[in-house]
Amino acid sequence: MSELHIIDHPLVQHKISLLRDKNTGTKEFRELVSEIAMFICYEATRDLPLKEIELETPIAVAKTKIISGRKLAFVAILRAGLGMIDGVTALVPAAKIGHIGLFRDPETNEPVQYYSKMPDDINERHVIIVDPMLATGNSAAAAISEVKKLGVKNIKFMCIVCSPEGVEAVQKAHPDVEIYAGVMDQGLNDDKYIVPGVGDAGDRIFGTK
Ligand code: URA
Repeated sequence: MSELHIIDHPLVQHKISLLRDKNTGTKEFRELVSEIAMFICYEATRDLPLKEIELETPIAVAKTKIISGRKLAFVAILRAGLGMIDGVTALVPAAKIGHIGLFRDPETNEPVQYYSKMPDDINERHVIIVDPMLATGNSAAAAISEVKKLGVKNIKFMCIVCSPEGVEAVQKAHPDVEIYAGVMDQGLNDDKYIVPGVGDAGDRIFGTK
């Protein structure tokens, strides 16, 4: 079973509380999503492989470490995942970015993919999929399947708020994918929003409501 990592750092928890507040406006909400994404990404990249190199400091020759091996790509689930991209690319500026768009079929409730644009060499990269809210887990599981179809072997999923239902769905469909989250909430309401959650993350990031 894939691991669930809750990033319970005080700064993350504090910023999530600010996100939850219905009086937090669009500008602040967007900044908070980006900052929290950066903190969670710091943990999600903790196991990147390192290699030793030698270079000259102004004082002496140093044996020192740099990130080695496969490179990284972030994949944003549209549209709320876009809000996390600035934060994660602040930490890994060389990462490439993919986008995937999914909507829920009102008849079947199944996710339907309407857009996918990935880096050409995605199959040579480690991939971190980002979406602030892991609610039912349907979009997350579908996005992971799409990335796997392209040949990616190492995939992580990063969100800010998750529900127990969403985590269970992703773990069941993709037991190899580790999940990184800021907090796990109580569950979903009848409209499939996370309770207490933050509301509609896309609307709050883009100011559409
Ligand atoms: N998507 C959101 O934006 N919020 C939720 O609570 C669930 C899904």
